[in-house]
Amino acid sequence: MKYFMANWKMNGDRSFWYNLAEQTAEQAKKFKADRFVIFPPFVALADVENALFEADKNMFLGAQDVSDEESGAFTSQVSADMLKGMGCSYVLVGHSECREYLGQPDELLALKVKAAQEKGLKVVLCIGETLDEYENKESIQVVVSQLEKCLEVSKSPELLAVAYEPVWAIGTGKVATVEDIKPIFESIKKTLLDKFGAKGDNVALLYGGSVKADNATEIFSVDEINGVLVGGASLDATSFVDIARSAQF
Ligand code: 13P
Repeated sequence: MKYFMANWKMNGDRSFWYNLAEQTAEQAKKFKADRFVIFPPFVALADVENALFEADKNMFLGAQDVSDEESGAFTSQVSADMLKGMGCSYVLVGHSECREYLGQPDELLALKVKAAQEKGLKVVLCIGETLDEYENKESIQVVVSQLEKCLEVSKSPELLAVAYEPVWAIGTGKVATVEDIKPIFESIKKTLLDKFGAKGDNVALLYGGSVKADNATEIFSVDEINGVLVGGASLDATSFVDIARSAQF
């Protein structure tokens, strides 16, 4: 099974979300063996859930962030229980834009992973190095450290996927080469095996950063990669589902 995950970020409006969800679900039906997950903005969750309601069982709903707290006086935050109530089964944790613009450190992300998994949500943990770190050849060291810190208190490899998204490849049109990616995914896999034993082998690994139909075949040629996390190209149903089409080869 391959995973195709759509991170819509802070894009669109009410009619756009509904139409995009419907069109994506319609086109994704052809790829029954694969799993599609849509991460719309929080305010779109109800509409997107309605649009997906009739869809095939290969479409799932997720949120772009989750609070580490259960409930209470935490203005602006959204809890794991609330997300479940809206029909979410997935949540992104640690996207580089949340790390950078919301100042979310690894220690907080570890608590978010735990809070989400305790409620049965599947966490897609995002990790990735900056351009400076990449140029200084620190990529492996940075992603392994993020992974170890963010999983410090997680006990649920069965509720985990890891998305490696080099920050310098997000929204830039620059895609990491297979030579760049391969050793990083090997290190991620080793870290998961060290932490979770044999169960670490079942954690799905995704690549993200300027993924499009014309580079998907190459990305999926890396053995360790089970899926992709797509930003810009997921804002059009055809360009998103075309990625699944390319990945069949
Ligand atoms: P782009 O596909 O637009 O580069 O975004 C990737 C991303 O950040 C997905 O989470």
